[in-house]
Amino acid sequence: MSDLSIQFDQRIAALTLDQKIRLLSGASVFRTAAEPAAGLHAMIASDGPIGVRGERWDERDTALALPSATAMAATWDEELVQRLGQVLAGEARRKGVHLLLAPTLNLHRSPAGGRHFECFSEDPLLTGRIGAAYIRGVQSGGVSATAKHYVANDSETERLTLDARVDERTLREVYLAPFEAAVAAGVWTVMSAYNSVNGTTMSESPLLAEPLKGEWGFDGLVISDWGAVRSTVDSALASQDLAMPGPNAHWGEPLLAAVRDGLVPESAIDEKLRRIFRLAQRVGALDTADRATPENARDFDPLSASEARALLRDAVARSSVLLRNEENLLPLDRADLRSVAVIGPNAATARIQGGGSASVFPATTVTPLDGIRAALADIAKVEYAAGVHVSVRPTPLTPQNSVDPLTGEPGVRVRYLDADGAEVHSERRLSGRILEPSVDSASLEAEFVEVSARFLPDVGGTWKVGVVGLGEVSLSTDGRVLIDELVQPESDDPTYVHVSPSFRQAALHTRPGIPVELVARRRLSPTTGLAVALTADPPRRDSEDELAAAVALAKSADAAIVVVGTTDEIESEGFDRAELGLPGRQDELVAAVTAVNPRTVVLVNSGGPVLLPWLEDVPAVLLTWFPGQEAGAGIADVLFGAAEPTGRLPTTWGAAAADVPILDTAPVKGVLDYDEGLHIGYRAWLRSQRLQRPQRSDGQGADRLPAPPLFWFGHGLGYTTWRYEGVRVPRKVEHGQPFTVHVTVRNSGHRTGREVVQVYLSRTESALDRPARWLAGYALVEAQPGEEVTVPVAVQPRALQHWSVSAGCWSTEPGEFTVLAGNSAGSLPLAATIAVD
Ligand code: BGC
Repeated sequence: MSDLSIQFDQRIAALTLDQKIRLLSGASVFRTAAEPAAGLHAMIASDGPIGVRGERWDERDTALALPSATAMAATWDEELVQRLGQVLAGEARRKGVHLLLAPTLNLHRSPAGGRHFECFSEDPLLTGRIGAAYIRGVQSGGVSATAKHYVANDSETERLTLDARVDERTLREVYLAPFEAAVAAGVWTVMSAYNSVNGTTMSESPLLAEPLKGEWGFDGLVISDWGAVRSTVDSALASQDLAMPGPNAHWGEPLLAAVRDGLVPESAIDEKLRRIFRLAQRVGALDTADRATPENARDFDPLSASEARALLRDAVARSSVLLRNEENLLPLDRADLRSVAVIGPNAATARIQGGGSASVFPATTVTPLDGIRAALADIAKVEYAAGVHVSVRPTPLTPQNSVDPLTGEPGVRVRYLDADGAEVHSERRLSGRILEPSVDSASLEAEFVEVSARFLPDVGGTWKVGVVGLGEVSLSTDGRVLIDELVQPESDDPTYVHVSPSFRQAALHTRPGIPVELVARRRLSPTTGLAVALTADPPRRDSEDELAAAVALAKSADAAIVVVGTTDEIESEGFDRAELGLPGRQDELVAAVTAVNPRTVVLVNSGGPVLLPWLEDVPAVLLTWFPGQEAGAGIADVLFGAAEPTGRLPTTWGAAAADVPILDTAPVKGVLDYDEGLHIGYRAWLRSQRLQRPQRSDGQGADRLPAPPLFWFGHGLGYTTWRYEGVRVPRKVEHGQPFTVHVTVRNSGHRTGREVVQVYLSRTESALDRPARWLAGYALVEAQPGEEVTVPVAVQPRALQHWSVSAGCWSTEPGEFTVLAGNSAGSLPLAATIAVD
């Protein structure tokens, strides 16, 4: 036993059973319990993954907002992602956060998955490598990362209860693999998911013991997803260590009784505590000689604010994926441009992040329009038209259009009132959307929350004003009641209840510049949370006029840049996407603009795949994902050539929803069958092609061939071109040993560039069901025009192994494997054979 373990045991032995049990549930929503007698301080947890929101949902507590996980994975760049992790560590330290609830290591099983944007990739190897880099970066600052959500939490429909049925081999090779990589990278915390796997909810699952803590040797803490501990004895007997948030109805008193009754051994409680103490020691929350310097953080040198913003900007270019670039329209030559039309709802409203617990409040954002304007200042005239509207939820008041009626300062007044209407707390806020007060809500004993503002409409006409929240809600203006309703909850999903509950709207006639008093009120109750918002949406131009104005603008300009995409309301935790198409009339907008301006560039601003029905007609198409707060700056770098878009797809994109092999995420009677087994993502596309080829050689009367994807996993063009010239492999590989594939590529274009050289394996003669091919390794290469580079790509033994269910271990099938090299799962011009003994 190490000195530290002895020290933990001594501290634990000195506690009473009461004290012990108290430590196993959170002290509040994002805070663990402290025990001064044992030198244990509270630990603060925060979401995650694109920024460190902090302990509370408060728009005044701003955070750097990084690009979405899909964007991070699109860089395929572990060094860059590790640096991004360091930025997060710096943010966590600045905010006193010990535990970052990220990264999300679930997979892109279906593009409809609501949290797709929050997960890295459809491929377990890429997810594991990017996730490990992220974890190393975060933990280098003495802050714990959290590998979540363990495991098979790959979609949102019925996410709290669904039972994912996954066979053992698929679990090991696909869904557990990224978590195994996280443990190998030394992650300190793993979060158990809400869902069940093969009949057992994850906070009670045997998978917490094996392979996580046993075989993989995970010595850290298993934290629950928020509210995922829903039993006393079963979860306590499982390897679930900490129930969050607290108090938890099933642990606490009932657990104390269960231990006293002998249903749960005290040794199991002590083991959980050991892990809590170990985490506390790692993150500097345990009184020890060197508490001020958490583990790992001795040499931690946080990036300065300007370095961090520069890195975030760089990450936008590194992650942007160029899908199409006819006649090298991009990068645009600024010298050629007198006027540029910037079009699309997402150009002027920064859609930098997805929705749900992942969202943060950045201090500043650079919209695409801002970025383009800055890059073209004094060079070209930049004009903007929205063209269409996409928002589905109402817009909260902002400090620009509201004044606190009490102080006259920008913002709104939020008051918490007791049952008699007496004020128990009051504060000014900078957004009409209030998710919680800035003080501990439990101590307030409030019965009502009220948001009021003097609203200053910038345009006259009929606005839609609204109130967001569940239960009894009302909205009045200058004493006149506009809304007074009982809003029944539509779901008990925490994201719906606490982040994006239902809303009601009413029409309000306004005159420009004439202020209107608005008061929104709701009755609070434990089951309907604290969230409330006061909203106002301006009168909208007729949609035909809106579209026509954008087209006219595009027609008159030297180039048109159209930003289309989704929003954080469409891609969010809490529900899956109903459709993959772009919302609103955005497809029409793209088609109409392209028809009048031959120099049209479309930027796709979404966290995950959307449909691009106009692709063939548009000269240049660039995916920017949810790019984080430096969005516009990074996008302008790419558009005007200061940086190359070097991203490659971390997930396969289909042309039509009907082509996607795994789309539906709705459980049937609570069960979501992963019956495709190992074949998700590009593997599923490959299999659908292989299985459904028409039998007749003349093709007559055959069913339509299953469509290939629009873009394969790994695809991305960049600003130069590459020739794959040769591949060298060892002839023989000993089983259980890594090997190296040498790939020779030449930059055949006119610009220095970066390429992601990808290596896949395949095996035609096999006793096993196998994907047609699978990613085995990759490496980044940079070369100047004409330069030839040979890049070593390391392949780990695991790439050759399969999980043997009968033997219960990893195993290598002897014989020949084909090594394929190229630049996407669908474009692999080089092949060689290795023999494994
Ligand atoms: C989400 C987690 C998140 C937690 C705390 C849950 O609903 O699934 O990803 O970390 O809430 O906000």
